[in-house]
Formats: sequence, structure tokens, C-alpha cells
Amino acid sequence: MLTPFLALASVAFGVLAYGQHTNRGATTLEGLYGPWVSPSTGIAGSTEANFSTVVGRRWSAWEAPQWSGAIKPASQRDLQEVIKISVANKIPFIATNGGHGPKLGQGQFTGINVNLANFDTITLDAANNLVTVGAGVKLGELQKTLFDAGKEIQTGNAVCPGAIGVTMGGGIGMKTGLYGLLIDALRSVRMVTAKGDVVTASSLENKDLFWAIRGAGINFGIVTEATYGIHERINGGNVTAVTFVYAAPSNRSLWEALKTFDGNQPAKLSFQAIIQYDRPSNSPRIVVQLWYPGPVSEAQQYIDRFAAVGPVATSVTYITQIDLYQQSQTSGTCDQGHIISAHTLGFNHTDVASFEVHFANMTAFYRANPDFQGISVFQYYSNKVTLQTPASETAFPWRDVQIWWLTQDQYTDSALGPTVRNFMSGQRANLQATSGFSAPHVYVNYALGDEGPAAWYSAANLPKLRRLKAKWDPNNVFGNGAGFS
Ligand SMILES: Cc1cc2nc3c(=O)[nH]c(=O)nc-3n(C[C@H](O)[C@H](O)[C@H](O)COP(=O)(O)OP(=O)(O)OC[C@H]3O[C@@H](n4cnc5c(N)ncnc54)[C@H](O)[C@@H]3O)c2cc1C
Ligand SMILES: *[C@@H]1O[C@H](CO)[C@@H](O)[C@H](O)[C@H]1NC(C)=O
Ligand SMILES: *[C@@H]1O[C@H](CO)[C@@H](O)[C@H](O)[C@H]1NC(C)=O
Ligand SMILES: *[C@@H]1O[C@H](CO)[C@@H](O)[C@H](O)[C@H]1NC(C)=O
Ligand SMILES: *[C@@H]1O[C@H](CO)[C@@H](O)[C@H](O)[C@H]1NC(C)=O
Ligand SMILES: *[C@@H]1O[C@H](CO)[C@@H](O)[C@H](O)[C@H]1NC(C)=O
Repeated sequence: MLTPFLALASVAFGVLAYGQHTNRGATTLEGLYGPWVSPSTGIAGSTEANFSTVVGRRWSAWEAPQWSGAIKPASQRDLQEVIKISVANKIPFIATNGGHGPKLGQGQFTGINVNLANFDTITLDAANNLVTVGAGVKLGELQKTLFDAGKEIQTGNAVCPGAIGVTMGGGIGMKTGLYGLLIDALRSVRMVTAKGDVVTASSLENKDLFWAIRGAGINFGIVTEATYGIHERINGGNVTAVTFVYAAPSNRSLWEALKTFDGNQPAKLSFQAIIQYDRPSNSPRIVVQLWYPGPVSEAQQYIDRFAAVGPVATSVTYITQIDLYQQSQTSGTCDQGHIISAHTLGFNHTDVASFEVHFANMTAFYRANPDFQGISVFQYYSNKVTLQTPASETAFPWRDVQIWWLTQDQYTDSALGPTVRNFMSGQRANLQATSGFSAPHVYVNYALGDEGPAAWYSAANLPKLRRLKAKWDPNNVFGNGAGFS
């Protein structure tokens, strides 16, 4: 027995658009979509027993959409049909893979989830240093496939986000200093548009669209397949990975040490400083993780600079990239189902006084709110890479950022939400004032959702993006939570 998808019925049958893709008799998702897709496409209303096998899982429980149903297309052809039917019947949808991109307002979203998990192929062309990944591939699968073949690519630092989802906003991580953003490796994409057509975008075909999807990609269609240039594995695939733990009184000296890297961070060196709170000992601390794709002897000069600050604990390891990426799994970073939102900004320098105030404010907030389990992270990546493709050929606007600040606002009692948001937006405003930029530079993939299109895409890019949006997605069916208006 199929359950009618009541929430959609009135919307679905109010205004019917084009021809064969509408089905006036259908009262269920299966009845509406089923006739047009292959039998292996999963379809389930939210009250059906098998819904959980069809819907894409989300990383955060914060702002979870109210799915009225889910569809898991088996092929690109099926995805085309799903989009045509949804558009014709005005059924809102959000396509997901890794489920790591929550945005403010999605909690009010009612519509269907289009789960891209079946597009899980990775095709390696080792001889030409190219890899093609499907929309269902996770970063960890891409990292592992390349590593095993003696290759590598610049991804994000965790294994769990969707590879193409990360690419759509830019893609930053510990290899950004070496190779640039993940979009800088992108050679071409195949995508399904709002009309249900399949188009290719590259530097040769649909050039403007290719510009737009490299930074604002979630607004123009669903990329089913993306081809990237790859590199030979650096240093045999091994990384020096060092963890330092600092007690609160060292915070100012640590910020001063970080500042010495402003504007001159070596390409191979990446690190992040994480403010956290140790509940058992009731004390704040700062953990620094340093990554260097070379032997410890070569990284030693940088290790020494962090050691000089006086950490209370240091752990130096030399491990494979894959073991390093896997730590996102073992440390719990990839765990699903917690309430977590993010506040974020980009900086071009370290403002020691502001960082010190932020640390003091975080400390007071931890003490006042025992249920708050959040962290505040400053990610440092060199932004001096010389690209083969000029930066002007991509929509990603914030290449002048060296330091990406982001919080994970985590708590268990949802009643704490407004208190956390109020506190964190105050912190964000304080840090913006000394960020080095008069206009906020926000990485759209880390965004909370309240920053607005100029902060995500830059005011300068908006006219061209809006023009392309009018061409490719005039009814705004894509880009939920991070659009241009
Ligand atoms: C634990 C964690 C670690 C992270 N680490 C990094 C990092 O190191 N570097 C970094 O740059 N970012 C990082 N991010 C942020 C990440 O880039 C974004 O969350 C990104 O949106 C994740 O994509 P997804 O497929 O997992 O999410 P989803 O929620 O499935 O998708 C996010 C958005 O992208 C759209 N989308 C997904 N797939 C496609 C597609 N094929 N075509 C068009 N649109 C698509 C969706 O419709 C949605 O709007 C991290 C996030 C988390 C939670
Ligand atoms: C889910 O269950 C319904 C009703 O039993 C069935 O029609 C549909 O094919 C099922 N879908 C999947 C993906 O199992
Ligand atoms: C990398 O690490 C592996 C396993 O620890 C080791 O066998 C190999 O020699 C190392 N290579 C380099 C270049 O350090
Ligand atoms: C940060 O460091 C400064 C300088 O040592 C110190 O005065 C301050 O108390 C520290 N902050 C916290 C929260 O401990
Ligand atoms: C942040 O810390 C500064 C300096 O200690 C203090 O003046 C300010 O009131 C604090 N703000 C919050 C929100 O805690
Ligand atoms: C930061 O950017 C601003 C605005 O572009 C510029 O004036 C300043 O010199 C930059 N600072 C650094 C350290 O790059």
C-alpha cells in the first residue's frame, strides 16, 4: 500500500505544466514518477517503511528538511526524468550526496530528497592523469582510489563529504597551498539542467556555465559526473602530522606564532588551531594540527616554531595521507545526527588582539553553557599557488583569504540554539571588523546561510551569476539556501 504524499498533492496538481510528465491521476510518488523511470530507481514516501533506504542521510540534525518523500535515481536518464517531473509539477527538491551542507531555512523546506548515491563510479585514466567521478562519490573514496594508484588530488580534509558537493563551492584543504582549490583541478562536468537536458561544461563548451559552477555550482543544475586533473603522489603519499595541545595562558603567544606565517605560509605547510573545552578538567585549550607532505626532518623548522610556544603535549607522527584522512572518521568528525551549525569568515591576516578576545569570550561561553560542545577553528592554508588556470576563469571569489575561520556550534538541547546563534553571530561580527576585508569573505560551503549572496559570491560576480541563472535555471529550482536573490 502506498501512502499518498498529502503535503505535496495540492502543490503538485495546482498548476500543471508540460505534457507527458504530468499525471493527473497520480496520488503517490510512485504513481507520479514510477512510470517514467527505470525499475531500479528507488521511490518512497516519507511514511513508507523503506523510506530510510531511499533518502540520503544528513550529517547534521540542525535545520533538517521536512522530506515528503525521496527518490534515488538509478541512472542519469532517470535523474533527467525526475527533474522534468518535479519541475512540471512544481514539486520542490534538494539533491544530496554526502549530506554535509545544511543551511539556515532548510528546516522549513518541504519537498523531496533526490539521493545521488547511485552515481558512485570512479574512472581513473592514470596515463593521462585524469579521474572522472560520479555525483555519489565521497571524498574518501576518491582519496583512496588515487592513493592506491600512486596519485593524488587536492580534496577537503575529511572522508565523508560528497566530492562534487565540495567542488561546487571551491574545495579547500591541506593541499590548497600546493595545488589550489579542488575547482582548479576540474576539467569538465556533465550536468542535468532545470529543463532536464544533459549538457557539458568545460573551457571549450558552455564556458560561462563552467565559470559559474566553479564556486557557485549548486545553483545551476545537478552535476552527474566531473573530470579532474590529478598529480603524482607527493613524498610517496606520506605526511608529517603533528598535534600540539596548549593551555589557556599560552593563547596569546600561540596567536603571535600563527601571525608569523601571515602572507608567507609555505606551500606545503598547512595547520589549524582549534579552540575547545575539556569538561572533565573544566579548562579551555587550543589544539594545533600541523600537516606537511614531507619527512619530519623537512617539517622540523616549522614544528620548532610551534614547540617554542610551550605546548603541554606534542605528538609527532609520520603516516600515510589515507591514515590521516581516516582520522576524520575515527575522531568523530564524520559522525551523523548531532545538532551542528557553523559560523564562518575568511581573513587575510592574524589579528592577535581579536583572537585573544574571541578565546576569552569562548571560554566564558563554555562555562556559562555546560551543554555547549562546540569548537572554533582557524584553518591556515597558503594562498600563493601559481595556477595553470587564471583565477578569473572561476567564480570562486575569495582567493585573497589565507585563514578560514569556522565554528561548529554543537549542543544536545535544541533550546540552546538561539543562545548559541546570538553569541556566535556576535563573535563573527567582532572578527569581521579585524578580518582585513571591509566586505565579509564567506566560503559558501561553510556558510550558515544568513550572510547573503555578496558574501558568498562577491558583489562583483553577482550580475554575471544572475544573468547565467536566468538562462539556466529561471525558476530557481536549484541552490536551496545559497542562491543569488
Ligand atoms: C565534517 C565536514 C568536513 C568538511 N570538510 C571540508 C573541507 O575540508 N574542505 C571543504 O572545502 N569543505 C569541507 N566541508 C564543507 C563541504 O564542502 C560542504 O558541506 C559541501 O556542501 C558538502 O557536500 P555534500 O555532498 O556532502 O553535501 P550535500 O548536503 O549532499 O550537498 C550540499 C549542497 O550541494 C549540492 N550538491 C551536492 N551534490 C551536487 C551535485 N552533484 N551537483 C550539484 N549540486 C550538488 C546539494 O544540492 C546541496 O545544495 C566539510 C563539511 C563537513 C560537515
Ligand atoms: C518501497 O516500497 C514500495 C511499497 O511497498 C514499493 O512500491 C517500492 O518499490 C519500494 N521502493 C524501494 C526502493 O524499495
Ligand atoms: C612511506 O611510509 C611507508 C609506510 O610507513 C614506508 O614504507 C615508505 O618507505 C615511506 N616512504 C617515504 C618516501 O617516506
Ligand atoms: C590568553 O593569554 C593572555 C596572555 O597570556 C592571558 O592574559 C589571558 O588570560 C589568556 N586567556 C584565557 C582565556 O586564559
Ligand atoms: C568578550 O571579551 C571582551 C574582553 O574580555 C569583553 O569586553 C566582552 O564583553 C566579551 N564579549 C562577550 C560576548 O563575551
Ligand atoms: C588584507 O587585505 C586588505 C584589503 O585588500 C589589504 O589592504 C591588506 O594589505 C591585506 N593584508 C594582508 C596582510 O595581506
